[in-house]
Amino acid sequence: NWTMASFVDKEIERIRNVVGPTAQVIGAVSGGVDSTVAAMIMSKAIGDRFHAVLVDNGVMRLNECQNVQEILQKHLGINLTVADAHDLFLGRLKGVTDPEKKRKIIGNTFIEVFEAEGAKIEAHVEQEGRGKIEFLLQGTLYPDVIESISFKGPSATIKTHHNVGGLLDDMKLKVIEPLRELFKDEVRALGTIMGIDEELVWRHPFPGPGIAIRILGEVTEAQVNIVRQADHIYIEEIKKAGLYRKISQAYAALLPIRSVGVMGDKRTYEQTICLRAVETKDFMTADWFEFPYDVLKNISSRIINEVPGVNRVMLDVSSKPPATIELE
Ligand code: XMP
Repeated sequence: NWTMASFVDKEIERIRNVVGPTAQVIGAVSGGVDSTVAAMIMSKAIGDRFHAVLVDNGVMRLNECQNVQEILQKHLGINLTVADAHDLFLGRLKGVTDPEKKRKIIGNTFIEVFEAEGAKIEAHVEQEGRGKIEFLLQGTLYPDVIESISFKGPSATIKTHHNVGGLLDDMKLKVIEPLRELFKDEVRALGTIMGIDEELVWRHPFPGPGIAIRILGEVTEAQVNIVRQADHIYIEEIKKAGLYRKISQAYAALLPIRSVGVMGDKRTYEQTICLRAVETKDFMTADWFEFPYDVLKNISSRIINEVPGVNRVMLDVSSKPPATIELE
């Protein structure tokens, strides 16, 4: 795809002109396709003068932090720092059950951790006489630009969205947004021609507050582990059935419900996993996905058999609106 290839070349040229010969750039990455493609372009443009930061907030998916680190650092050669802040996040989430409070705690803590990491990187860079951090890279897409201009995204007003907007005021950085004229499918095409792993390029969206908003009730390490295992099995079976790309977004959540079950000849009184899968074009409206029964049967029995603490699996058959895609 030559238009995409020439887009990369032009963008690299533009970034080099904007950043100049000595300034440094910082940017948060998540392992999602947008931030990874943006980071790739920046890294090709200015090499190690770009500093990618991955914040481990303790509510990412199973092995996600290590996997993202492996791909970005080893396969894509991006200059990456991982800020392990999972204790800080989980500590602050202790006892919190209100969805908006969870979102605010995670959003604010994220900014705090990212800024602290930025200050460390800056100190290091200045000490070596290598210039200053002057720019912030963001993986903003065209639909995000539209949504923030009109400020009318239904979920923007319903849920506090996690973003790094607050960073700009505090850190006095200038923003660079290489993807701001592109749609998601174009970013995926870019990712593919830049050699990014297919699995990453096609990953479903994952919210900034992570699985904290997929655990209804208090977020504890034990609850996080249950959702991680269930979600891992769910996605694995979806991929095995060849349905991953048909579904726009799928995830497992933990409901604040215990119910009675039986295991061998013993009574159990354990938790409930909720399966969510939707099809959508723009994530503003969505239909629940119609699974073949045999796939559901497999997922359910694997989760109940393999995830300790779970004795019941339920399927969410609500469309958006009136339900949202995430449960909180
Ligand atoms: P809802 O739940 O509002 O979600 O129907 C629509 C889409 O947005 C994602 N989402 C988020 N993404 N930070 C994000 O980066 C957030 O705080 C956030 N909340 C929801 C959600 O996963 C879905 O794709």
